[in-house]
Amino acid sequence: MVSKYLIGAGALLSPLVSATSSAKRGLIFIPNSTTLQDNSIWVQTGSDLTWYYNYGNLPSSDYTHIPQSKFEFVPMMWGVGPNPSQDTAFHDSVVNLINTGTPISHVLSFNEPDAPSAWGGSDVTPANAALAWIANFVPLQKLGVKLGIPAVTGAPTGFDWTEQFLANCTSILQTQCPYDFIPLHWYDNLGGLQSHINQYATAFPGKKIWVTEYADPNQDLATTQQFFNQSASYMDGLASLERYSYFGAFRSNVSNVGPNATFLNNAGRLTDIGSLYLGFGLTGVVPTSNN
Ligand SMILES: *[C@@H]1O[C@H](CO)[C@@H](O)[C@H](O)[C@H]1NC(C)=O
Ligand SMILES: *[C@@H]1O[C@H](CO)[C@@H](O)[C@H](O)[C@H]1NC(C)=O
Ligand SMILES: *[C@@H]1O[C@H](CO)[C@@H](O)[C@H](O)[C@H]1NC(C)=O
Ligand SMILES: *[C@@H]1O[C@H](CO)[C@@H](O)[C@H](O)[C@H]1NC(C)=O
Ligand SMILES: *[C@@H]1O[C@H](CO)[C@@H](O)[C@H](O)[C@H]1NC(C)=O
Repeated sequence: MVSKYLIGAGALLSPLVSATSSAKRGLIFIPNSTTLQDNSIWVQTGSDLTWYYNYGNLPSSDYTHIPQSKFEFVPMMWGVGPNPSQDTAFHDSVVNLINTGTPISHVLSFNEPDAPSAWGGSDVTPANAALAWIANFVPLQKLGVKLGIPAVTGAPTGFDWTEQFLANCTSILQTQCPYDFIPLHWYDNLGGLQSHINQYATAFPGKKIWVTEYADPNQDLATTQQFFNQSASYMDGLASLERYSYFGAFRSNVSNVGPNATFLNNAGRLTDIGSLYLGFGLTGVVPTSNN
């Protein structure tokens, strides 16, 4: 994976590249049809984002002109339909991308399967998830694609769900269920994020961790910014943590994680957090400002 800010040697010397740049960072792409102009912000010259996902199996048309080596699309199978062991649409779509010139190297699976759909979860039982995993993901690993297990919620029941999923998969396959990395979600303070990561790192030694959604929601601006800085330093320094993506690539007044957590203000300008995340300097733009 080639990080954009490493391509030109000159960029390394630029004072605009702050110490917070990181090749681990990706975009959770949550476009809003009323503000499509915001979509180019994340891929502007100098942005250090190296990968993205959009909760779906196909790349976003805004980014298909950018090669995978610069901005890697990571497909996700969001949930599981009524025929978990028969439905291979996700697998087939990834194989088709690979065969038509989009070299997919990592895939993500079910979004918050331990949560009901009313809360934004995909509400899948561990046993059905195991069947869908075997039908769609296990064959992709044989093609060299790295597999992320389902990203459960940060609740303790999420950990139980994961253990049951792996046990069900292993018992169906009659051999250790194959997977490569562990995506996690976290919505609370830094201490909580650290102990959450530690819990999974201890339970699944040797597996890389991705934090695919995180923020400290509904806090005042100073607390939110401090969380952002400290969590980025922490994750950048943690060797077992391979990638992370902050939940906040949208405007303050459409936010569901509070008005202070977002990358953009109400007019679509980068806030301090948004700008630092892309590897630029502070902007002083207050998230709730209107221009
Ligand atoms: C998209 O933006 C409009 C206008 O700001 C807003 O009313 C709507 O709730 C947003 N949609 C989502 C899904 O955030
Ligand atoms: C899934 O695993 C759980 C816990 O090990 C077990 O109770 C359950 O019977 C399993 N379900 C299937 C369908 O194998
Ligand atoms: C957002 O931050 C401002 C400034 O720190 C604070 O007054 C406000 O209460 C915060 N909003 C929320 C929802 O926490
Ligand atoms: C966050 O880090 C940036 C530089 O990396 C620094 O300029 C800023 O003051 C920090 N903000 C907080 C709230 O610590
Ligand atoms: C968000 O703020 C912008 C700028 O003030 C405004 O045009 C837009 O309608 C607002 N959207 C919502 C959902 O309040």
